[in-house]
Amino acid sequence: MARIIGTDEQAIRTAADALAAGMLVAIPTETVYGLAADATNGNAVAGIFEAKGRPHFNPLICHVSDIAMAERYAVVDPLSRRLMNAFWPGPLTVVLPLRPDTDIHPLVAAGLDTIALRMPRGVAARIIAALDRPLAAPSANTSGRISGTSATAVEDDLGGRIALILDAGPSEVGLESTIVKVDGNTVQLLRPGGLAAEDIEAVIAGTLKRIDQRSAIEAPGMLASHYAPLAGVRLNVHEVRAGEALLAFGPQRVSGAKAAAASLNLSETGDLREAAANLFDYMKRLDASGSAVIAVEPIPFNGLGEAINDRLVRAAAPRTSSMTVEQIK
Ligand code: TXA
Ligand code: MG
Repeated sequence: MARIIGTDEQAIRTAADALAAGMLVAIPTETVYGLAADATNGNAVAGIFEAKGRPHFNPLICHVSDIAMAERYAVVDPLSRRLMNAFWPGPLTVVLPLRPDTDIHPLVAAGLDTIALRMPRGVAARIIAALDRPLAAPSANTSGRISGTSATAVEDDLGGRIALILDAGPSEVGLESTIVKVDGNTVQLLRPGGLAAEDIEAVIAGTLKRIDQRSAIEAPGMLASHYAPLAGVRLNVHEVRAGEALLAFGPQRVSGAKAAAASLNLSETGDLREAAANLFDYMKRLDASGSAVIAVEPIPFNGLGEAINDRLVRAAAPRTSSMTVEQIK
């Protein structure tokens, strides 16, 4: 069972130390409790998906301690800044272009070039400031279950899978944050949530553009073409053909591996968490190697293997048209 502590200075230090060590910590925010990990630590972020039992990798919200920290990781346009000034800290998440070469792990944004940022109210912002790194944190619940809005709800659901829970009483809002994205002069509503659309509309003196829920929320990290490598992808291979790059997994190599044009191993020891943390980066690197095809060794379907295979299947799928991609951007 997880250790449940309060929210005094000592507790904040304990939480920051645990997060710095790569552990998962459930933290209270004004919307719902978050299952937090250091956003720069790929193994820790992979641990979030593992603990939640998510069957796929979707992009996670990254929590910052202030606007200055947001600017370290994203390019903030004037309209987004106006929204941050008006509503941060609070239940508003803003999707922004990710700065290249940040240390945010690619698994956080599920390989996208945008990042969803939010500054939570209360103790969470103090933990982030103490850590001086952003926290990736989806709601603290098993995938498919109701979001945790109290320490006991989190303990009942995830207690066996996480080390530490900070208890700040029931969440004030009880509903996830509202997610918006500025597109030129318009503000798109990607997910309705704890901040009313009308409140945002009052600040922008305009109307929010409602985006189709499924394409806006599920598609960003899910669409094959968002993440499709230039190279073709062959899954579940039992031999590497001439000229192919190899994405390997585990201690045993398939035949022809030695002759592969390029080769990276997701996890030498067959550790699925390590493999998840390496997946996006290695796919990009093998794609950049210039081979026409990336051959992928079989990866088991248990635990995080399901999400890894889901993502690989999308990468291997026939490309959707660029039209479709543009429509949901
Ligand atoms: O209230 C909340 O927002 C809670 C608390 C813990 O802060 N967090 C939360 O996070 O709900 P999460 O990671 O479950 O939110 C994920 C959703 C995705 O399903 C997607 O809709 C959106 O955030 N999202 C994340 N990154 C995105 C991106 N780059 N583009 C578009 N949507 C994105
Ligand atoms: Mg959730």
